[in-house]
Amino acid sequence: LRIAVLFGGRSAEHDVSVLSATNVMGALDPKKYDAVPIFVTREGRWLLSGFESGVLATPDSGVDVCLVPGGHGRMLAVLADGTPAAVPAIDALFPVLHGLHGEDGAVQGLAEVARVPLVGCGIAGSANALDKDLAKRLLIEAGIPAARSLTILPGAAPAFADVAGALGLPVFIKPARQGSSVGVSKVATEADYAKALAEGFRHDDKLLAEEFVKGREIEFAVLEDPQGGLFVSRPGEIAPAASHGFYTYDAKYIDADGAALTVPAMLPDAVENEMRDLAARAFRALGCDAMARVDFFLTGDMRILVNELNTIPGFTDISMYSKAMAASGVPYAETIDRLIGHGMA
Ligand code: DAL
Ligand code: MG
Repeated sequence: LRIAVLFGGRSAEHDVSVLSATNVMGALDPKKYDAVPIFVTREGRWLLSGFESGVLATPDSGVDVCLVPGGHGRMLAVLADGTPAAVPAIDALFPVLHGLHGEDGAVQGLAEVARVPLVGCGIAGSANALDKDLAKRLLIEAGIPAARSLTILPGAAPAFADVAGALGLPVFIKPARQGSSVGVSKVATEADYAKALAEGFRHDDKLLAEEFVKGREIEFAVLEDPQGGLFVSRPGEIAPAASHGFYTYDAKYIDADGAALTVPAMLPDAVENEMRDLAARAFRALGCDAMARVDFFLTGDMRILVNELNTIPGFTDISMYSKAMAASGVPYAETIDRLIGHGMA
């Protein structure tokens, strides 16, 4: 099978995607798969990449490629001087892209237009999960508990006193459509609120003010089988280092000691079971298929809140999705096999 692995991308999580895709490439068994890495530049061009000695090429020019609409995986390619180049057709498209334009349904729609099998979550689930505002509405509508929040649109930000009155302090201000905590601020004063709005609006034109939930961060990997059954992993727990205040971008990727992952997390059986059930319900409520990581808060008095779903979660072999699957008896390479199997079914 020729699998195109799309990575990089236009979002603020470009570098995270390169890490995820490097691991995916390394785990694709060459006896089963002919992997074709395609680098999406920060501007959004698709360039043929290569994978040598465990390193993915991230060129800034070279062979531009695109999928032919209705082509069932047929690709067109041109060299930098415009000369056509030959690229064999692919059997499936595997976006390993995080955030906007990759995890939000856009590329998933392109697979549909090209009529090529897609590995991972489809259009609607991707779009719903990436937009924290839409996701929350769907969760609440399904009776699934989520942190309280207000939606903030440009030029219509509520007064600080109203935010504090509705949600208490501190509050998080976050872009509705970003991942990896990019553009997220924790706010306790009016001055910080103004700064947080400005920072948030640099990343998106829709923000959320969300209540601060003091609790443990517990995450589950959900993987759908080709018949539509859901496999929900054991729980994993993330404890950000106190120095970071919350699970920031730096705590996630820059600072090696930024966070500690415990898999499986220590939870009473009844709580774990209830959370696994909620993870599956949240996955369905958002219209997801194939895969997602479902992130929760668990408060000291055992209140369970769904925080968010990530349809293309961080995918290195030390990422929570992979660790939670491994702790549930499904090693990394098999997780990828199953995902591809789902896409091809
Ligand atoms: N958005 C990052 C990649 C994650 O959720 O893992
Ligand atoms: Mg996230």
